[in-house]
Amino acid sequence: MQRSDTKATLSFSDGRATVELPVYKGTVGPDVVDIRKLYGETGTFTFDPGFMATASTKSSITYIDGDKGQLLYRGYPIEQLAENCDFLEVCHLLLFGELPDEDGKQEFERLVTHHTMVKEHMYNFVRGFHHDAHPMAILTGMVGAMSAFYHDQLDINNPEDRRISAIRLIAKLPTIVAMAYKYGIGQPFMYPQNNLSYTGNFLYMMFGTPCEDYQVNEVVERALDRIFILHADHEQNASTSTVRLCGSSGTNPYAAIAAGIACLWGPAHGGANEACLNMLEQIHAQGGVAKVGEFMEQVKDRTSGVRLMGFGHRVYKNYDPRAKLMQETCKEVLEALGLEDDPLFKLAMELERIALEDEYFVERRLYPNVDFYSGIVQRAIGIPTDMFTGIFALARTAGWIAQWDEMITDDDFRIGRPRQLYVGPGERNVK
Ligand code: CMC
Repeated sequence: MQRSDTKATLSFSDGRATVELPVYKGTVGPDVVDIRKLYGETGTFTFDPGFMATASTKSSITYIDGDKGQLLYRGYPIEQLAENCDFLEVCHLLLFGELPDEDGKQEFERLVTHHTMVKEHMYNFVRGFHHDAHPMAILTGMVGAMSAFYHDQLDINNPEDRRISAIRLIAKLPTIVAMAYKYGIGQPFMYPQNNLSYTGNFLYMMFGTPCEDYQVNEVVERALDRIFILHADHEQNASTSTVRLCGSSGTNPYAAIAAGIACLWGPAHGGANEACLNMLEQIHAQGGVAKVGEFMEQVKDRTSGVRLMGFGHRVYKNYDPRAKLMQETCKEVLEALGLEDDPLFKLAMELERIALEDEYFVERRLYPNVDFYSGIVQRAIGIPTDMFTGIFALARTAGWIAQWDEMITDDDFRIGRPRQLYVGPGERNVK
């Protein structure tokens, strides 16, 4: 963090002394005004509900330029990573700062692969859920419960404990997500297969059965791996900030990641892919492309409470680069599976076309986000709608744990404790 020569000056109209606030520069992106001494010097807080203009931390992991529609992991554009790397290489990059060389790649794969099994007791634990529990409810519980199985390696100040926790989380999430799925459909759990790739193994645990051989489809494997890469990190979004805030109390990483999963579940965040597909299915059931105009009128009527799910983003005020890649992947998967005429894909393309020309969306700079096409790809692969957010959680675990580790080792690390503007009653007496 580099101190700028520029200083910000804050003055009050009530005669209080003016304060000078330092300004810091990042590598790229907006400068920040350091307000840490503001309360001590002026007795005032800043007020920023929804963190519209507040940097909650410094970070060297992910950078987003929302106006350009640019996303970088450790400096590498997401397009190049999606084209040239697999998900585990990206996990290595997020966790350790660099892409692995060939030896490093093999070593990392070996390490992750050898941690894919979960303790057998976890199977008893999952059986305690009601048969129709939402997979995200199961995931939140199961990941939180991991801390009960590895409590001998939970010293957050020990780098080796932090490293092994990160590996365990990345390795076991596919197993746990697949367990949540199999439990819901009443099929036997499939143990991980170490001869398969990370993503191939996940497909096997999801769709394999003990009754017959399961062949991993390479196009599907590559598409899902790309979904994982595109969802792996996204700087200080709601769930990542939740992981950081929860972890800032010094709790263990499994508890912090479970908190992140709970946050991701919401329809304004990771739950949007599920909500988006439900929306497409609903429009399709009501008449499909012919009903798009009517639906758009509802969306634009602000009293209706209807939003075009998969559109809009707090940071991107341009096309989300992940949505572009996802649209390409969508075409590839549908072609490879002989589903070129998929009505939901056609519907999504039509909604996008209309929205991008419509004044309402243009004015508000609303573009498709990653969730607009990811649901169609996942549905084509055979993943049920209520599992979409679980897939997102699996991928985002890499980013969450990298961000958590960065926080623990940050010189500025301290418990997160936002303040407030109190607007309730003043002191009063019961009698
Ligand atoms: N459909 C219709 N109108 C919208 C939409 C939408 N999807 N998104 C924003 N707007 C309108 C909103 O009504 C408001 O209009 P006005 O200024 O007239 O009141 C304006 O655009 C600004 O919206 P906002 O809600 O103040 O913006 P925000 O930054 O607080 O919200 C968002 C961002 C992603 C929650 C929102 O765009 C949204 O609800 N989108 C749909 C859900 C979605 O797709 N979420 C996935 C986000 S990407 C994946 C992830 O990171 O989790």
